[in-house]
Amino acid sequence: MITNAQSGTRVDEVAPGTYRISTPVRVVPGGFTFNQYLLVDEEPLLFHTGPRRMFPLVREAIAAVMPVERLRWLAFSHVEADECGALNDLLAAAPSSRPLCSRVAAMVSVDDLADRPARPLADGEVLGLGGKRVRWIDAPHLPHAWECGYLFEETTSTLLCGDLFTQPGAEHAPITEGDILGPSEAMRQGMDYYAHSEATRPLLEKIASTRPRTLACMHGSAWAGDGRRLLLDLADALSPVAAR
Ligand SMILES: [Fe+2]
Ligand SMILES: [Fe+2]
Repeated sequence: MITNAQSGTRVDEVAPGTYRISTPVRVVPGGFTFNQYLLVDEEPLLFHTGPRRMFPLVREAIAAVMPVERLRWLAFSHVEADECGALNDLLAAAPSSRPLCSRVAAMVSVDDLADRPARPLADGEVLGLGGKRVRWIDAPHLPHAWECGYLFEETTSTLLCGDLFTQPGAEHAPITEGDILGPSEAMRQGMDYYAHSEATRPLLEKIASTRPRTLACMHGSAWAGDGRRLLLDLADALSPVAAR
């Protein structure tokens, strides 16, 4: 469903009760996308707020699915404009909402930047949304930022995987079973956004152990398939065994 004809912003259900909001942008040659994921439940959760200047488009897209003021949790992986730039706009639009992030993010940035205190999550901590349950996974410096982490939604086996598998281009299917590692590796060759810490492989193995069936990517298509295999393939691409 296109929610804004001018920007091309669209909303698609990519897993039960899980909506991908996607807006094409021209920040790099060939185009790019900023995606947000809306988990509709008794306590609705948005993963990534989108940039501050994109707030009117994201608000409009959420409103096509449910009233914006029902939002309860404004979650994100790390502190960057596409992750949480519209945080305060959304806090104002949804009076009972709160930021939801890692303990490091809350301590270092969010409890200062945000207009309401964050609800920090520890590694492995589970939060019930009503029907759905999200589990926080700490992932410092994967791909970047000390405070980085992800949410895994247990009832649909959906990994909200942020910048992992960032695909270039402005035109994408909402969800694909095709190759996303190839495009994301091509993107990384031109603009390496990974920290390449010694913990990269063990962290990817920890995330892979959730055995996700849907990967909710922030840039490009969402993906359906054997998420454990794909995350381990990403670990191999980042740190080839022969080179270690
Ligand atoms: Fe990022
Ligand atoms: Fe991003």
